[in-house]
Amino acid sequence: MDLYEYQARELFARHGVPVLDGGVASTPEEARKVAEQLGGRVVVKAQVKTGGRGKAGGVKLADTVADAQARATDILGMDIKGHTVHKVMLAVTADIADEYYFSFLLDRANRTFLAMSSVQGGMEIEQVAEESPEKVAKVAIDANVGVDRAKADEIVAATGFPAEVADQTAELIVKLWAAFVAEDATLVEVNPLAKTPDGRVLALDAKVTLDENAAFRHPEQAELVDSSAVDPLEQRAKEKHLNYVKLDGEVGIIGNGAGLVMSTLDVVAYAGEEFGGKKPANFLDIGGGASAEVMANGLEIILSDPAVQSVFVNVFGGITACDAVANGIVQALGVLAERGEDVSKPLVVRLDGNNADEGRRILTEANHPLVEQVDTMDGAARRAAELAAQGA
Ligand SMILES: Nc1ncnc2c1ncn2[C@@H]1O[C@H](COP(=O)(O)OP(=O)(O)O)[C@@H](O)[C@H]1O
Ligand SMILES: [Mg+2]
Repeated sequence: MDLYEYQARELFARHGVPVLDGGVASTPEEARKVAEQLGGRVVVKAQVKTGGRGKAGGVKLADTVADAQARATDILGMDIKGHTVHKVMLAVTADIADEYYFSFLLDRANRTFLAMSSVQGGMEIEQVAEESPEKVAKVAIDANVGVDRAKADEIVAATGFPAEVADQTAELIVKLWAAFVAEDATLVEVNPLAKTPDGRVLALDAKVTLDENAAFRHPEQAELVDSSAVDPLEQRAKEKHLNYVKLDGEVGIIGNGAGLVMSTLDVVAYAGEEFGGKKPANFLDIGGGASAEVMANGLEIILSDPAVQSVFVNVFGGITACDAVANGIVQALGVLAERGEDVSKPLVVRLDGNNADEGRRILTEANHPLVEQVDTMDGAARRAAELAAQGA
């Protein structure tokens, strides 16, 4: 889960990472009040979960309270890379002598954590990283050892932070690592990490991604979830403990096992090209032990998606054999009908693996008017895409 800057800034502050005073506002009038509290000379920043706000005109300086209100009026409602601005953060304006870049992230490819840093931070960091990668230091962090002061000194030296900020920066790095670990983050990024003319080092921007798999360890993080930004189908799926991600196509997908579902998405997207670009409407992994209830819940979510025109159920029987899945599908359709759900979209089912023959027999016998069986994954994907094209 990505945090808004104002949330990430509060998280930094809680862990002793130096940030400037600030507050958040949803209306120009609120922005005015916050600016008053902060003394009038503020920066007004769009709160959207995407980078490059500065370049998009979503970060503006204001010298007076009235000016802050005017800038908030401009920025609220702006569209930044497809994200509408519903909130602005106001923060005390810093005088900036230098802008650095710092981040900790999970380095999946190397199965480790990584510190990335540069003394050439700021809004052009992407360009710096691309054109002069040697200016971005990368230091691997052993998860078992973490970042103590010695490691932080090593990072400071590798980056080439100037001597006058070395101590402060090392301290900040230790705190940022502590925050990264304590919050179960997969990314903490500070860009710019600014040096002020009087020699202080401050986090002027804050980007944090939390590991949702660790959410159970952090009940307090639940309040960081922005329910207005969560897709309503994803929200309902989550309440039903389904592993569902909304996509923007027309073919609903249900499969067992994340790998199978991922490849199903690819196969459907490929097959859909023939039918005017039909695409998967979602990712849904119902896991190993797919009971009729899980199948019913999954089907209910998918069928309630107005974009869905057909459904592809792609199951490879393993520990849960295909006959159990087939019974699950038949029962699920019954359960949905009983719940009064609208079951009118065609289902293409492909069963393979453990007890596939028995599974197919059960579906054939049930002879549900909306269920069609295809034996191969490619064939079923093609048929589902074709049906989606007919339904649209
Ligand atoms: N409190 C502040 N005082 C002065 N300048 C700021 C402040 N916060 C941000 N800036 C300037 O605005 C630029 C863009 O802001 P930032 O928060 O980094 O947004 P983004 O990274 O989305 O463009 C920063 O690089 C910095 O130069
Ligand atoms: Mg930034």
